[in-house]
Parts: sequence; structure tokens; C-alpha cells
Amino acid sequence: DWTPDSFIETTIAALRQKLGDDKVVLGLSGGVDSSVAAVLLHHAIGKNLHCIFVDNGLLRKDEYEQVLDSYKHMGLNIKGIDAKQRFYDALAGLNDPEKKRKAIGRVFIEVFDDAAHEVQDVKWLGQGTIYPDVIESVSVKGPSATIKSHHNVGGLPDFMKLKVVEPLNTLFKDEVRRVGKALDIDPNILGRHPFPGPGLAIRILGDVTPEKVAILQEADAIYINNLRSYGVYDKVWQAGAIFLPVQSVGVMGDERTYENVICLRAVESLDGMTADWCHLPYDLLAKISNEIINNVKGINRVVYDISSKPPATIEWE
Ligand code: XMP
Repeated sequence: DWTPDSFIETTIAALRQKLGDDKVVLGLSGGVDSSVAAVLLHHAIGKNLHCIFVDNGLLRKDEYEQVLDSYKHMGLNIKGIDAKQRFYDALAGLNDPEKKRKAIGRVFIEVFDDAAHEVQDVKWLGQGTIYPDVIESVSVKGPSATIKSHHNVGGLPDFMKLKVVEPLNTLFKDEVRRVGKALDIDPNILGRHPFPGPGLAIRILGDVTPEKVAILQEADAIYINNLRSYGVYDKVWQAGAIFLPVQSVGVMGDERTYENVICLRAVESLDGMTADWCHLPYDLLAKISNEIINNVKGINRVVYDISSKPPATIEWE
């Protein structure tokens, strides 16, 4: 019978057998899958696992620092790389969602490749690929595989010439969480909502600038903190704020304002393929809206997305 403990035991033994004294590089994202994969590999091969965590400037507010800290506490051999400016430069002037995704994917590979080259004699690339990713990347008809170019699987260039090790590629998400719990991974990492690889870049409609990212990070932090303090964070499958490049008129004191709109999105789902918008309590929405408008400079209006998937997608881009 499958149990997290038996999975951990057999996987660690198999990884030791497979990897011997070889070195592995692995890119951490702060998400559940890459974190669990890293901890399993760490148990198997210790310091021969070299983790790389890239700050693409598109993460949630303070997330890079917090996540890097908790990885260090977990004893992982990890290198953090501040590549914010490289991503912002590559995104400058790009409006099309797929062009934005491609630019982010390309810069990520460049940055990761530079870092991986610093690890002498590395033989393997570790990845947090889970079973549904494997299915999605081979199915031609899967909606998100065809509509959006997810780049979690097989996105690395040939010239890296690394063999791939994917300890979670037979597991579903809930099994990954159970394994993570049995491995004592920070509940904050395990319970985290899914977050797209391109990050806030696809939650800023149109072109991305560091200023828009900063505004969205503030609004998003207010939103997520309120979901937590109201006790609904764990009931929501995924939530996030979206920056709309639309200006609308408002009043602040005696002044007329003409500023941007923030949209709040929260969905219930099992696997992200279909989703219903969450019926969040009005008093919670009111509190979030007031806090955002009163505290985030550049925003004078907040709206709530009441669209389900299909036909709307979870992300706006
Ligand atoms: P959609 O917007 O297609 O999203 O309904 C379904 C799930 O996939 C995530 N998503 C992505 N994840 N790279 C990722 O790693 C992407 O380009 C990407 N686009 C969407 C989305 O956040 C949701 O969980």
C-alpha cells in the first residue's frame, strides 16, 4: 500500500542507487513541488544537491527573502540569485501574454544556466515535475497546454547536457503534500496556493514595469493577508490580485483622481482545469477594498472577478 513513509523510504534508496556520488542542480520556485523534490534529494545525497533560487522580480511581496530563509533553515545547499533587472529589461515594452511568457522562460534559462555552470562536474538536473505535468506536456488537447505555453516541463536547452531526475513524477498534488508533511516541510510552503511560473507578469495586463509590479505586490499582500486573517486562505484553491491598465475617475478628499484598477480573483478548483469563483463574504471584500484604496498609491478602484472556468481562465493572461 502507498503511504508517504514507504514512498520516502523507497525513493531515497532509489535516488542513492541512481545518483551515487554525482552532483545534481535543481531550481527552486518556492512552490510545493520543487520544495518537496529538493528535500527528498537532500535526504538522499546531501551537499551534492545544489539548489538555485532565482529572484525574477515577479514574485509576491517579500516572498524571495522569506522563502530563501526557510530553505536555508531546512539545511538545503542553496544559492539565491537576484536577477530582477534582467527580467524587467527583457519584459520592457512587451504586451502580448505569450511573448511575455517566452521572454521570462528565456531569461530564466540563461540565469539558471549561468548558475548551473558554476557547479563543477554536475551531471543531473533535478525537477519537481509531478504526474499531471507529465500528462499535460504530452497531451496535445489539454486546454492549458495548448492555450498557454507552460514551461515547467522539458524547458531546458540541449546544451546543458544533463540527465534529468524527477522524484515526484508518479505523484498527484495531494500525495506530494502528504510526502512534504511527512518530511516536516514548512506548512507555509506546503499549503501555498498555486502560483504561475511567470508570476506577477501575467497578472499585470499588457506591459510590465517595476512600478506596476510594486503596486501589484502591495495590493496582493493586503488581499492575501486578509484571506489568512479571516481564516479562508486554506479554503480557497488559488487567489491573487490583477493589475488592470485601465484608469478610472475617483475622488479623494476634494481632489479628483484618475488612477488604475485592481481586480481580485479567488477560485475553488480541484486541479485548475475547471474552476468556480469563490463567494467570499461581502464584509471581507469591503475590508480588502478599503485597505487597498487607502494604502496603495495609484489605485482608486477595486473590482471582484465573478467568472468561472470555462469559459474564463484562472489567470487573465
Ligand atoms: P489558467 O489561467 O490556464 O491557469 O486557468 C490554470 C493554472 O495554471 C497556472 N498557470 C501557469 N503556471 N506557467 C505556470 O507555471 C504559466 O505560464 C501558467 N499559466 C497559468 C495558473 O496559475 C493556474 O493555477
